[in-house]
Amino acid sequence: MKRSFLGVLLLGLCAIWISDARADPPIKYAIAVHGGAGNGWLRLDGEERIEVHTSIKQAVIIGRDILAKGGTSLDAVEQVIRHLEDDPIFNAGKGAVFNSAGGHELDASIMDGRGRSCGAVAGVKTVRNPISLARLVMTRTRHVFLSSDGADVFAKEMNVDLVDQKYFWTQRRYDAWQRVKAKQKDDHKGTVGCVALDSHGNLAAGTSTGGLTNKLYGRIGDSPIVGAGTYADNNTCAVSCTGVGEHYIRNAIAYDVSARMAYRKQPVEDAVSEIFEKTLIADKGQVGGIIAVTHDGKITMQFNTKAMARGAADSSGRFDVVLVAD
Ligand code: GLY
Repeated sequence: MKRSFLGVLLLGLCAIWISDARADPPIKYAIAVHGGAGNGWLRLDGEERIEVHTSIKQAVIIGRDILAKGGTSLDAVEQVIRHLEDDPIFNAGKGAVFNSAGGHELDASIMDGRGRSCGAVAGVKTVRNPISLARLVMTRTRHVFLSSDGADVFAKEMNVDLVDQKYFWTQRRYDAWQRVKAKQKDDHKGTVGCVALDSHGNLAAGTSTGGLTNKLYGRIGDSPIVGAGTYADNNTCAVSCTGVGEHYIRNAIAYDVSARMAYRKQPVEDAVSEIFEKTLIADKGQVGGIIAVTHDGKITMQFNTKAMARGAADSSGRFDVVLVAD
């Protein structure tokens, strides 16, 4: 009797050991990147699509390599977004859209999931990489959000790379501005964002944009608003949004993803799809996309437009770059 009990116990322990050995190893680090959601991506010619694909791929490699070497999620997010801000094909940094006054006003935010510290800038006009200025607001001031001239003055004090407004002039964005002024539809693609989990278990998120083409002078979108376009909390997830910012602001979308995980225990995939099905669709049709990574390395990248430039990688060897819906 005693012997057969021991036998059953041993068999049970063996079964647990075998099933554990077969289980996927935990994800140590993970990263997701977007270059904006919008139907306009479908109008790109083959060469332009390759340009977008190549740039997102480079962005994912930059972030993945930082994380694989034990770097922080904040460094990965900042460096990925700097790369995208320097590429004129995206609506952030160099490729920022024109506002109604024919100028460029840039917005960005970054958030550290460890203690929810965050930094943001809105309406900056002379800063080459707004995401780095947002990080300096987080680390070098007692504030979380600086705007307009005050943010540009702070940029000068911090010795970040300054440029004049001509730097942001690109033919592509000028033509888009003319089309929008002629009452054609804005395709609002090209905001950039990144979410990352590092091997120390910390999450970070960041988003950067030139906003909407022909936006009113002074208009601020969701990208620099923590809780709307960006959010990170180590207990739940890191989130970056893209699309028509007004919908994301009025529905506190980035925070809602985290809140659904915290309060309703929703898996991140379901949290984001329910936001699209119940909140954003009800709010107004095709508005954009959301990327998120959880504290245990699950990635979701969803959108309700026809395309979103995006990519992801993690410690299991995952590596994807995709532009259109699939
Ligand atoms: N999501 C970018 C903006 O609305 O400004």
